[in-house]
Amino acid sequence: MDNQTHFGFKTVDESEKAGKVAEVFHSVAQKYDVMNDLMSGGLHRVWKHFTLTTSGVRAGDKVLDIAGGTGDLARGWAKRVGKSGEVWLTDINSSMLTVGRDRLLDEGLILPVSLADAEKLPFPDNYFNAVSVAFGLRNMTHKDAALKEMFRVLKPGGKLFVLEFSKVWKPLSPFYDFYSFKALPVMGKLVANDADSYQYLAESIRMHPDQETLKQMMLDAGFGRVDYHNMTGGVVALHKGVKF
Ligand SMILES: C[S@@+](CC[C@H](N)C(=O)[O-])C[C@H]1O[C@@H](n2cnc3c(N)ncnc32)[C@H](O)[C@@H]1O
Repeated sequence: MDNQTHFGFKTVDESEKAGKVAEVFHSVAQKYDVMNDLMSGGLHRVWKHFTLTTSGVRAGDKVLDIAGGTGDLARGWAKRVGKSGEVWLTDINSSMLTVGRDRLLDEGLILPVSLADAEKLPFPDNYFNAVSVAFGLRNMTHKDAALKEMFRVLKPGGKLFVLEFSKVWKPLSPFYDFYSFKALPVMGKLVANDADSYQYLAESIRMHPDQETLKQMMLDAGFGRVDYHNMTGGVVALHKGVKF
């Protein structure tokens, strides 16, 4: 029998998880952006803006956005690195990637796009100055393998940015639980006609490693100077690490 893992609150064989995650993102891709704004009250833009502006990424840098979906971070990176830089938008899911690629093209941005599994990245060793993954790590089956791949493709001195839901400040948790488990699936049903995917979202957040655990996982993958910054009371944390 396969090893077991989590898909939200359910326990599934490891071999099943990627397929189930794929179903979620094929289903939500067309409504993904509007749901993001609605569910977060626009806050996801602030979290991503903070990631970009505190990154230290500069003109000419090479940046890989993993699980990049509809391209919010890739677009931001492209503006920062300019014409002399290189930004790859990658994701394992063709529906998300197609929405992202089309959206960037509509804005006049032509970036290299690649259908890529974070656990087996199709890039050479020591290539990128920065790697980002926003709200993607949570969905990966073997997070340790994905973190090692991120480490491999970074140049020495390169930085990893992991933006992800995290463990909320305790006094906020009753409100956050009510919002996540009562309001989110209803919004998902009304706007995207898909309550289950938004139930999975709420459950997967609760099953994701907390701030300190993710920090340790990054250290285990080889990163140095690992630290994190909580945002919105720990609803989200930005972890950074450096490859030495
Ligand atoms: C919540 S979306 C985040 C999209 C985008 N980064 C953002 O912040 O709006 C999560 C993305 O992770 C992708 N994903 C899940 N597992 C993956 C894997 N193993 N490798 C690459 N991408 C993956 C999904 O296809 C989906 O597009």
